[in-house]
Amino acid sequence: MPATRTPAKFYSPLAIGAPEPFRQLPVRLERMIHFIPPQNPKIRARLDEIVASVDVLLGNLEDAIPADEKEAARRGFIEMAEQHDFGSTGLWVRINALNSPWALDDIMEIVGAVGSKLDVIMLPKVEGPWDIHYLDQLLAQLEARHSIKRPILIHAILETAEGVSNVEEIAAASPRMHGMSLGPADLAASRGMKTTRVGGGHPDYGVLSDPQPNGSPRPFFQQDLWHYTVARMVDACVRNGIKPFYGPFGDFSDDAACEAQFRNAFLMGCVGAWSLHPKQIAIAKRVFSPDPNEVAFAKRILDAMPDGTGAVMIDGKMQDDATWKQAKVIVDLARLVAAKDPELAAQYGF
Ligand code: GLV
Ligand code: MG
Repeated sequence: MPATRTPAKFYSPLAIGAPEPFRQLPVRLERMIHFIPPQNPKIRARLDEIVASVDVLLGNLEDAIPADEKEAARRGFIEMAEQHDFGSTGLWVRINALNSPWALDDIMEIVGAVGSKLDVIMLPKVEGPWDIHYLDQLLAQLEARHSIKRPILIHAILETAEGVSNVEEIAAASPRMHGMSLGPADLAASRGMKTTRVGGGHPDYGVLSDPQPNGSPRPFFQQDLWHYTVARMVDACVRNGIKPFYGPFGDFSDDAACEAQFRNAFLMGCVGAWSLHPKQIAIAKRVFSPDPNEVAFAKRILDAMPDGTGAVMIDGKMQDDATWKQAKVIVDLARLVAAKDPELAAQYGF
């Protein structure tokens, strides 16, 4: 059993003058984390419009940013954070991995310049709680130095075999933990999976049905490569009061498969996914906002069981304390969505 801080110490600031850690995550709608390359002037010119259309805007400094543009991306992120008002949209940055030549300057320069506007740092290739502890301590020192009043949160990407093995300890590493995203591309490489994709299924990963007595063709059912990892991540996150996300879906020509992958994650407990292409914003909105028919049914359950106990029948289906709790998850999420989206608010009848 590794040594851990006592509960009292766990919630103390790690540097004199740093803000108190949150005891509960701020309630925020984060259906999509929209990735942009901050060094790109065309995207920066349209930033206000993009900010208005997403729940979270993330400046990406890590993979997909060429090595010779890393510093321009970091500068671009600082400028965009300084120049724009993000309103209720979250402002996140994905820094480079801790073992890269850029990570230290990413952290020092960004927190120093725009730490008060930054909600979350996404940390890639997290292998264990030691990575979180390092960033946690450094952020506390920087918050104190720059008089930052609200703690900057950490979101880990789960994308190495070692990280998956340590997922529980990562989720529990600090009150600064916001949540986790599955990173299927790096995870596939780390595990030695025989794929060349960014998320989604594979046509050869599946189950062949038994031979048919009449010798007719045997149906083959494709399976979800990510089921095990998403399930472990959801349990580790929820146990620690933090949020699980599905990460990237790289085939921009297959919106149906993107939607199916996002929906599996949503049904299993994830609260959002990454959008790497503008068209994935609408997909994530559709998937991670509850279906109006489900919301209507969930409201009927809550109305039929005002104190959440007992058993009732609705449309021939048994409802009890456990379905009441499921209904509450859906209605609470619908209220959060409705507060941001008047069109869905009308559909939900709020
Ligand atoms: C995301 O970073 C991934 O590797 O899938
Ligand atoms: Mg990755």
